[in-house]
Amino acid sequence: MKKVLVTGALGQIGSELTLKMREIYGTDNVVATDIRKTESAVVQSGPFELLDVTDEKEMFNIAKKHEVDTIIHLAALLSATAEKKPLLAWNLNMGGLVNALETARELNCRLFTPSSIGAFGPTTPKDCTPQDTIQRPNTMYGVNKVSGELLCDYYYHKFGVDTRGLRFPGLISYVTPPGGGTTDYAVEIYYEAIKNKKYTSYIDKGTYMDMMYMPDALAAIMGLMEADAAKLKHRNSFNVSAMSFDPEQIAAEIKKHIPDFVMNYEVDPVRQSIADSWPNRIDSTSAKEEWGFKAEYDLEKMTKDMLVKLGFKSLLITA
Ligand code: SER
Repeated sequence: MKKVLVTGALGQIGSELTLKMREIYGTDNVVATDIRKTESAVVQSGPFELLDVTDEKEMFNIAKKHEVDTIIHLAALLSATAEKKPLLAWNLNMGGLVNALETARELNCRLFTPSSIGAFGPTTPKDCTPQDTIQRPNTMYGVNKVSGELLCDYYYHKFGVDTRGLRFPGLISYVTPPGGGTTDYAVEIYYEAIKNKKYTSYIDKGTYMDMMYMPDALAAIMGLMEADAAKLKHRNSFNVSAMSFDPEQIAAEIKKHIPDFVMNYEVDPVRQSIADSWPNRIDSTSAKEEWGFKAEYDLEKMTKDMLVKLGFKSLLITA
């Protein structure tokens, strides 16, 4: 990766990945794009272009102008929003991806795009979900993710485009909040714990989902993109996970630092049924074997870091 174009650069992953990659690859070598422009560090600290990813010509022109060799295509709607607006999700998630793939094909770029635990469905084995298994999701987001995985593999086999992807679990960070995802509760809970010492979870107790702290997700993207192509047996996409927990377990971890923290439940049927259709715990063995995936943060370490970064001062954390 010498010169990178990022779509959706102001989103949850993009806002941190862009800055991290600018540190590593050089400020001018990471071109951020998004459909909106803000006063954020991503816009201020390096090249930025407005881009609607459904506009193929514009995407191609920006990539050509900056002579990029890598496209990190992040612009997409998350699961709960996609379920509310399925046609918009199809048009944006699939339209954006096919434009990114076409641009990569025409300009000979490497391409990364995230898949998700949402690419699995109710008939997928729930525990230790294998890399290669049944993928019959029943959400629009899942349909987009499976179609995206297949399309990326197609571009690799048919046109030789170097496509790579990760099936991300819920991503937790203290920088940019996610929006419209099913796993967002595991981010909101930290903000509410510090602000109000209580949180009302829309996901029920006993619902296990895979999660990962953002620093591990950023390292995984760069690790996969730098990996030796000859070692990759899989491409689109690799299972990666750092931890699996249910709402009770994250609440218990927060209580270690904020003993009077209170957890309540008001289950949202839409997001609960999405969560119920996803695995409890996926198996990341292929990612470990093929390109050395490793996660540094478990629930305990992540909770400490989240609370500190969000400004909470705890005796336990400073001890
Ligand atoms: N975090 C995503 C979501 O909940 C899963 O990929 O939609």
